Amino acid sequence: MKEKITSVEDLPGVGPKIAEKLMEAGYTDLMVIATASPAELAAVAEIGEGVAAKIISAAREALDMGFETGLAVLEKRKSVNKLTTSSKELDALLHGGLETQSITECYGAYGSGKTQLAHQLAVNVQLPKEKGGLNGNALFIDTENTFRPERIEQMANALGLDPKKTLENVFVGRAYNSDHQILLVEKAKDIIKEYKIKLIIIDSLTSHFRAEYVGRGALASRQQKLNQHLHTMQKIADTYNCVVYITNQVMAKPDVIFGDPTEAVGGHVLHHAATFRIYLRKGKGDKRIARLVDSPHLPDGEAVFRITPEGIRD
Ligand code: GTP
Ligand code: MG
Repeated sequence: MKEKITSVEDLPGVGPKIAEKLMEAGYTDLMVIATASPAELAAVAEIGEGVAAKIISAAREALDMGFETGLAVLEKRKSVNKLTTSSKELDALLHGGLETQSITECYGAYGSGKTQLAHQLAVNVQLPKEKGGLNGNALFIDTENTFRPERIEQMANALGLDPKKTLENVFVGRAYNSDHQILLVEKAKDIIKEYKIKLIIIDSLTSHFRAEYVGRGALASRQQKLNQHLHTMQKIADTYNCVVYITNQVMAKPDVIFGDPTEAVGGHVLHHAATFRIYLRKGKGDKRIARLVDSPHLPDGEAVFRITPEGIRD
């Protein structure tokens, strides 16, 4: 009888040397290997793609992947948790908050509140479950240098949390260009487990891509890179039961006369990758209006919230 495979070292084709390389690169459990691509695994373990493909399929077999029954899918949905936004209206629009195992995209114009919501979520994720948190920590990938620790302190104080401790549980990575941003997300696997990360923020997902891939000729490669990047995030969200929150600025298209003059950067790639898309726009004063756009199982609708000194509120 074949011995049961329970860890990465047990996989056929994985010797001590390969195992060590996989561990170092964060491929520490069967699920991470099973959901990797041959090219990716070949690169990290310095092996041929053929060997990598065999290792991946062994991991999948060991995990009994492939078709799932509807019941198994339902079981998995049961482990989905919700993260509060601190606005009852916005939470209601999202049927309880942002979901783990999903990517939530927030898009809107300058000053619409995307970054403010990111800060609020980084605080809220640390709350216990009965208060709408996930009892975990946040990873904040900052591409525009708009992370403000002082704002985290204000929001933490307003919720009765220790501001210093709250800041200690937000891990900030400043991404200097799109390749660096991609690398930070790939490296995130290492710290997610160690530091109990339950929320990954990328604010903003698209700014570097937009600046670096200019012109029609660059569009296809930009979309391809973004697609792969989002795929990595979805995998992380699934594997570690995390919330992924990404922001995206809307770009005015002055040449469009008819139809919607604004369109999220990234276009159709994001359209398919993000499970929830929230469109934010400014209202009067501190009011903001959120609209849920094409969500698979929630009705489209709108919610109004405010950006107050204490943070996001109704
Ligand atoms: P871009 O990143 O430029 O696309 O905008 P954004 O959507 O990220 O906007 P952001 O979340 O930065 O929202 C900016 C707005 O939030 C400001 O116009 C202020 O109204 C409000 N805001 C920002 N910081 C504070 C603060 O410390 N206190 C309060 N009360 N409001 C703030
Ligand atoms: Mg912002």
